[in-house]
Amino acid sequence: MISEEIIGLLNNSAQKAGYNDKLSVTFSNMPKLCDFQCNDCFSLAKKYGKNPFDIAEDIVKNIENNEDFDFSAVRPAFINIKLTDKKLSQIGNEFLKDERGGVPKHEHSQKVIMDYGGANVAKALHVGHLRSPIIGESLKRLYKFLGDEVIADVHLGDWGLQMGLTELQLYLDGKLDYYFEGKGKEPVITLDMLNEAYPKASARKNIDEQFKAQADEWTLKIQNKEEPYYTVYKIIREVSVKEIKKHYSELGAEFDLWYGESDAQDYIDKAIKIIEDKGLTRVSDGALVVDVAVEGENIPIPKTSEDEVQRYKNPMPPAIIKKYNGGVLYATTDIATILMRNEMFGYPDRIEYIVDLRQKNHFVQVFRVCKMAGISPKSQQLLHIGYGTMNGKDGKPFKTRSGDTIKLEDIIDMLVDKASEKLKSNGVEFDRDLALKIGVSAMKFGDLINNVDKDYVFDLDKFMSFEGKTGPYLQYTAVRINSILAKTGEAKGEFYVDNDEEREIIRNILKLNSAYEICYNNKTLSPLCLATYNLASAFSTFYNNHNVVNEKDEKKKQSFIALLMLVKNKLAQALNVLAIEIPQKM
Ligand code: ARG
Repeated sequence: MISEEIIGLLNNSAQKAGYNDKLSVTFSNMPKLCDFQCNDCFSLAKKYGKNPFDIAEDIVKNIENNEDFDFSAVRPAFINIKLTDKKLSQIGNEFLKDERGGVPKHEHSQKVIMDYGGANVAKALHVGHLRSPIIGESLKRLYKFLGDEVIADVHLGDWGLQMGLTELQLYLDGKLDYYFEGKGKEPVITLDMLNEAYPKASARKNIDEQFKAQADEWTLKIQNKEEPYYTVYKIIREVSVKEIKKHYSELGAEFDLWYGESDAQDYIDKAIKIIEDKGLTRVSDGALVVDVAVEGENIPIPKTSEDEVQRYKNPMPPAIIKKYNGGVLYATTDIATILMRNEMFGYPDRIEYIVDLRQKNHFVQVFRVCKMAGISPKSQQLLHIGYGTMNGKDGKPFKTRSGDTIKLEDIIDMLVDKASEKLKSNGVEFDRDLALKIGVSAMKFGDLINNVDKDYVFDLDKFMSFEGKTGPYLQYTAVRINSILAKTGEAKGEFYVDNDEEREIIRNILKLNSAYEICYNNKTLSPLCLATYNLASAFSTFYNNHNVVNEKDEKKKQSFIALLMLVKNKLAQALNVLAIEIPQKM
């Protein structure tokens, strides 16, 4: 790594000058002046009781002769480091030859289970579930790229009240007579039937206590695998999962495991026993609970209306692991799932959940129970990566004009329509697959460029622009380079730096390479999005100033082509991590 080479030179020189300290460098705050800077002379000055600028000069004087970097001491007391053209050229050629493009793999790989997606069976996928597959898929690709062994589990919501509600509603509507009354012929349960039954039942449970109690009972029967409840449940699940798979694949989210909450059923009794044997449970209103509150911790009480003030004087409520009727809850399945994952996959180093920020307390409760009970060993990291809400332009959670929550299907249609419109105005004829690729990339980039935990505004016009910090702009840049390379063929010579636009490109590649590690450490894709955009933008400047195809000087032309290949590789690598596909044309 370049920064390590610089640090090596700095440390040697510092030692010669009498400072036995380890120095550090960062990318320069003033890229016009230099590429890297060292800010350590200020702290050395304190330690040695000297003038900081004298120290900077001391160190620069003692730098070993080299052809790669120019060091200079500048006031008040920085050491500025500039890469020579020789070095920039060498970096370009090296990165072009290296199949990882100069991004090192981690020395120690970790085993990670990632829990993202989380769609609920029998309910239509809605926007609240959109960020999870986007962020989850990219983080997964990032971790794998840096060397982790990752298992992605979609963890469907398939074991809760919505199952009892949907099935009960279908029954009351006379659709399940074949199974329950032995009458008629076997019905075909369709997605439309589910889409109608669940909302109807869900609304009714809020006003009809008896109905709610009955749905609870049905849910319990399903969970106890009683017939015909369980058989019908499995049919509903299958119909719904087929649809979910289709949507996730359109979004480019790929899972190794298509497990759901229901798959933890076999681990529930065992998990509860472990918790009970540790003496962690008590009975409260007939339910089995675990106290997880921590002294002095105040958690917010959710607001019940818009104008209510958020209050913060509440201990963490106990985790309920068994209902009054013996049924299991969301927390129970999550605890049992951790036990299952640990037993099946040999105690992974990390388990990460990419789930709405509003589920924070749920995960705090689940993680605490697992740590207290020893279901998760001390060394294992359990992490909830909570994401903010996708809002409409009015700043409120994204809804349709009539105020309904938008279904994922509708969003996908919107993306395809908008992208088709754009393509049409560019003279490209209608192609749904192409429009989907562009539309989805617009949405993904518009999401990933934000910090994960922040809310953001879903602004399709902005996301879909072919200019600026957007997915389509990056795709367009890659498509453009590909089409130039199709004309020129591969480079037959080496790359050498000859102008400022090229210097800028190599600097941006160095920054892009360092963005992967920053993203890894901070569990975000935002720095990678920005660095990729900056590289694309540096390329555009270069391309506007130099005519690659018609360059007369053959040596120079080959150098240009090599640079194009390098930029293309770097863009493709980054877009692959962002799970953004590069289309054939645009
Ligand atoms: N199905 C859940 C929901 O819709 C999300 C699941 C997240 N993962 C988990 N292990 N709890 O809220």
